[in-house]
Amino acid sequence: MNRPDDSNAAIWKSTDIIAIRTARAGAREQRGAAQWELMAQLLPFDESDAFIFLDLGAGTGSASHGILKLYPHSTAILADFSAEMIAAGEVEMQPFAGRYRFVTFDMCTDVWPKVIPRKVDAVITGMSIHHLPDDRKRGLFSEIFDRLRPGGWYLNYDAVDSEDAAVRDAWSRANDRIDPLAAEQRLHRTAIELARHTNHMRYVIPLTPQLAWIEDAGFAGVDVYWKRLDNVIYGGMRPEEEKT
Ligand SMILES: C[S@@+](CC[C@H](N)C(=O)[O-])C[C@H]1O[C@@H](n2cnc3c(N)ncnc32)[C@H](O)[C@@H]1O
Repeated sequence: MNRPDDSNAAIWKSTDIIAIRTARAGAREQRGAAQWELMAQLLPFDESDAFIFLDLGAGTGSASHGILKLYPHSTAILADFSAEMIAAGEVEMQPFAGRYRFVTFDMCTDVWPKVIPRKVDAVITGMSIHHLPDDRKRGLFSEIFDRLRPGGWYLNYDAVDSEDAAVRDAWSRANDRIDPLAAEQRLHRTAIELARHTNHMRYVIPLTPQLAWIEDAGFAGVDVYWKRLDNVIYGGMRPEEEKT
């Protein structure tokens, strides 16, 4: 269900915007590769283990690649609400044919499609939680907890905001020096690029409440496992024994 004022669905179901994203796939892969690899390494499996994981807001499946590569017997369920992203993903996921399937799921609703198994061994999200309003971020963390087998992990790679202007300035300063081209492009955004950026930023929030919601959902071992400026990987595990 999309909120009436919400541009998010229009953005992610726009072929123009997906074309821009596809054109920049190389730079995105370069930026994300180490983080996706780390998410795979954080999972508590042996390389010989067969397990099922869920990638929510999977897009073209970039976050799943690291796990599918490190664990050759793993299987991915890739959920997204954009038929256009799923179509692009079917092409990018070809190297893993037979080990994944896409399902349609709008994370703005708490009604999960039946095609998603009742229990999975791990859940990941990559750059998708920040597209959700806060009530759905929080609700989704609980729903993810419910879907995990005891001992299962949830990891989220995402962008965060800060309430401290000095912190935000420091992030921008460093990001602009690291990627001067992006800094230049920011000054000359087309209307489509501006809409995409506005959509990217609208529900980005600080880290602290997100960690609190993860803990409230029941997760243990909650930590920020990686952080660089405004990008983080945080998560935790569903305890083997539930609190009573
Ligand atoms: C920035 S892309 C990230 C894709 C991928 N996870 C990655 O790390 O490259 C955000 C993805 O979230 C999806 N998305 C945004 N809002 C969603 C929603 N409400 N329900 C399901 N998917 C959503 C978009 O369609 C898009 O594929």
